[in-house]
Amino acid sequence: MADARPRTVTFRVRRFEPGRDERPRWEDHRVEVTPGMTVLDGLWKVKEQSAPSLAWRSSCRMGICGSCGMLIDGRPRLACNTQVAELGSEVVAVGPLPNFDIVKDLVPDLRPMFETHRDLRPYLLRDDTEEQDDPTREYWQSPHELEEYLQFSYCIKCGCCMAACPTVATDPHYAGPMPLAQAQRYDSDSRDAGFGERREVLSGGDGPWRCHFAGECSQVCPKGVDPAKAIQLMKRDLVFDLLRLRRRKPPAAVAEAPHGLPREGIPPAPPRTVPEG
Ligand code: SF4
Ligand code: SF4
Ligand code: FES
Repeated sequence: MADARPRTVTFRVRRFEPGRDERPRWEDHRVEVTPGMTVLDGLWKVKEQSAPSLAWRSSCRMGICGSCGMLIDGRPRLACNTQVAELGSEVVAVGPLPNFDIVKDLVPDLRPMFETHRDLRPYLLRDDTEEQDDPTREYWQSPHELEEYLQFSYCIKCGCCMAACPTVATDPHYAGPMPLAQAQRYDSDSRDAGFGERREVLSGGDGPWRCHFAGECSQVCPKGVDPAKAIQLMKRDLVFDLLRLRRRKPPAAVAEAPHGLPREGIPPAPPRTVPEG
């Protein structure tokens, strides 16, 4: 039977408050570890026991919200998705994600990443804006077309890939793996017609051509998104487009009204919550 007795490890936590501290420092805190305990649980213990002002960002505690990305034992990871036991070390080093400015302690300033993400228009771009604002039906998409972008849509915008990318580390203007992968996610969507608009944003030197395809971003991604693959597909599509070889159907149309008998066991749609007109 596994030994379930608690043991103790040292949480070595990086502290820094810009404008107040001259330079970052490391603080050691002893924490009793219980089976199943995550690094995020450990940080809460540190905060309760001995460092009430320690700052980090977290919310869901289940690898969904993307807010608890940190540098844990030298690798960008989600604190809530990393068990202390899996690290296998007596000293757990926790710092903020590299390649971002620090707001305080373990809180990175993710604004540059999200500004680039916003500039690349990460949503369906189409001409039928009225239909989009007030949908009458869903847009039709085949399972095969869904597969074209599904993996990229699992991104939770945690920034771990940005922290691991050597190009982001050396070129602050590089768009980076998260925004590029999300641009490719929408460019690959059969319901989207925004390739041309996103291509204009990417036409400078800061887009996918700066990617060296080292793949570090995909190595650390906690959701299996594979942003390095998305970026290489983006390069392919841009080259095909330049050579006028990129074939693309018009964006998917609104699905036809279903015909035939309703399938058994499917409940009727709930009433509208927003009044028509
Ligand atoms: S691609 Fe992966 S590592 Fe990068 S932001 Fe999305 S979920 Fe995080
Ligand atoms: S594959 Fe490209 S985006 Fe990913 S870490 Fe390497 S250089 Fe950065
Ligand atoms: S707290 Fe939401 S991903 Fe970790």
